[in-house]
Amino acid sequence: MSRTSTPGASRTTRTTTSTRTTTHPRRRGRALAATLAGLALTAVTATVTVTAGPAGPASAAPVHEDRTPQGRTLGDLAARHDLAIGTAVDPAALTDPRYRSIASTEFTSVTAENAMKWEVTEPVRGTYDWSAAERFMAFAERNDQKVRGHVLVWNNQLPAWLTEGVASGAIDRAELRGILKKHVQDTVRHFKGRVWQWDVVNEAVTDSYDAVDGRIGYKGFWAEQLGPGYVADAFRWAREADPKALLFYNDYNIDAFGDGGPLDKTAFVYRMVKRLRENGVPIDGVGSQAHLSTRYGNYSAFQIADTLERFAGLGVATALTEVDVRNLLPAEATSDALNPLLQAQAFDYSALLTGCLTSRHCISYTVWGFDDNHSWTNTWDFGSGPGREALAAIYDTGYQPKPAYRALQADLAYSAPPLVQRRIPQRPTP
Ligand code: XIL
Repeated sequence: MSRTSTPGASRTTRTTTSTRTTTHPRRRGRALAATLAGLALTAVTATVTVTAGPAGPASAAPVHEDRTPQGRTLGDLAARHDLAIGTAVDPAALTDPRYRSIASTEFTSVTAENAMKWEVTEPVRGTYDWSAAERFMAFAERNDQKVRGHVLVWNNQLPAWLTEGVASGAIDRAELRGILKKHVQDTVRHFKGRVWQWDVVNEAVTDSYDAVDGRIGYKGFWAEQLGPGYVADAFRWAREADPKALLFYNDYNIDAFGDGGPLDKTAFVYRMVKRLRENGVPIDGVGSQAHLSTRYGNYSAFQIADTLERFAGLGVATALTEVDVRNLLPAEATSDALNPLLQAQAFDYSALLTGCLTSRHCISYTVWGFDDNHSWTNTWDFGSGPGREALAAIYDTGYQPKPAYRALQADLAYSAPPLVQRRIPQRPTP
């Protein structure tokens, strides 16, 4: 594929910043491999001419483009597989030029971290505020990035007028259903034709640890108020509003199947999606959030591939939608304590990507924030106290690539047929 056919060719101008090497012992193996790869690939190293942007001088300046794998962006390396590499974006952070530069060059897809959530888009009943979402969309469109719309129906980050109205009895069940339909359809129509994948329903089911009566079931505000039928309704409403967007169910802890019993969340979601498909509900994809932690054993690439393939067997696309791998912060941030964590983290990022690459229906791999400054893990409480499990991203706080970033580059560069093939194009179910 020719370089110029890649959308957003300006991505190539940043490559020199990601070629930094380190003499740290932990990198020696990779550095050697990279050097060998560099030797093998010198034939494709080229000097290209990049036309200066609006702010630059009128004359074209020659720029040395590093075509070795470690000199190429994740999005560029993944294009060969037809895989989109995404990140969650916080529009407020785009004012930081370093954040903005990486967000616009490394990734071929973006998700609004919070800007499309209901509490943000309709803080006052009947009065929409699309300003943050539109700032995000403008950024995506300027950079030719595909958009994952997040999120239409979720139990969290709902506007107070809605939850309080229901709690006080001012909004009854029939009215609530109408409010939900309006929210789904107004939002989808507002962005019609501009969103590639929508997370239509998010986190609808329990985990093994909060299962009621010893079995996984539907949980939270919407199931309590409307019953589980709201899931099918939401997909039908979204399809009416945009026939072309891919419609996803999105959840966490569905990265691998368990024993198939009543506490197996992945199996529950699998059966839910199977039933929805059998009933003609227009669901096109399953998103596995993949919020992992090096505290747990986690998964091999084989388990991830198997899970994604089993979902694909239902006729749906899959995506890894919110990947991050947090670390329980050590008492002291010494290199002895941190290096094993960074290596374990790289392994998990890599297992997820390899699993996705191996399944031809897995169409995107999105990280939930790309740097350790802007990760939700910095403040979230995962059970060990707020911010105690963090350092979850692929760039450090100084925007330097971590071992996880290098592992993703290597996976994308060194994967090839027959075991890794191009993605199969996914079409919305009517
Ligand atoms: C998180 C955001 O990253 C935080 O900034 C916000 O405070 C809470 O929500 N699953 C999801 C995401 O689907 O929307 C969540 O995002 C993370 C878990």
